[in-house]
Amino acid sequence: MTTIQIIDGRAESDRGRDFLPGMGRTWLLPLYDLFTRFARVRPLHERTVELAGIRPGETVLDVGCGTGNLSFAVLRAVPGAVVTGHDPDPSALRLAARKAGRRGVRLSLVQGYADRLLPEDGSVDHIVSSLALHHVDDAGREGFGREAHRVLKPGGRVTIVDFGAPDHGPGGHDHGRRHGHEGHRHRGMNAYTERNLDNGIVDLLTDAGFTDAREIDHIDHRFGPITIVQATR
Ligand SMILES: C[S@@+](CC[C@H](N)C(=O)[O-])C[C@H]1O[C@@H](n2cnc3c(N)ncnc32)[C@H](O)[C@@H]1O
Repeated sequence: MTTIQIIDGRAESDRGRDFLPGMGRTWLLPLYDLFTRFARVRPLHERTVELAGIRPGETVLDVGCGTGNLSFAVLRAVPGAVVTGHDPDPSALRLAARKAGRRGVRLSLVQGYADRLLPEDGSVDHIVSSLALHHVDDAGREGFGREAHRVLKPGGRVTIVDFGAPDHGPGGHDHGRRHGHEGHRHRGMNAYTERNLDNGIVDLLTDAGFTDAREIDHIDHRFGPITIVQATR
């Protein structure tokens, strides 16, 4: 079994900064992989990787990687990809490191927040992110867009899968009006998640300077509408 180091990529000012863990509570983390297997998250990862169009040798940064499942989906599909997982949660990163070691795959891991990425300007081929932006507050989301734009190479792509929709969610505006829905809340939705509705992720990337951000797939998942959004630097 290989031992994988976790690099501390946090700025001094980010030490002690809060974050919303994968299951909402740190003590629930050991159940995360079991829960996501039951929730059928793996097909979402596989679809995202397929749409990202990653080639062997390309660098991939998985932002909000948690226990590493999207990174592992990248490495299964493209074993020659050079993948780094990035997440503020040291316990999730330790689990990811253990899994990578057991599987004998090459995965780099960095502890840090989405609004402060380690790579240098224009140095990354792909950013991928799964079910993470709905854990990040407004300032963090804005910072993530800015950082994604900064670290990607010209022609590099960002591909994001998360709860979200181009409209107000299940059934859209018309459905909401017809049925008199006001809140449009769905299982799995919190206040941050609702920011992903009404093209929230597309707008976030557009505001950061990406000119072609768009939804490239959507899935009606049992826990809510899922959007896959992509943009090119
Ligand atoms: C629901 S989990 C998703 C994990 C993984 N991407 C997956 O698909 O299984 C959300 C992740 O977002 C991370 N997160 C929370 N706040 C963050 C932030 N400000 N920047 C980056 N990641 C963050 C959490 O630590 C958690 O690992």
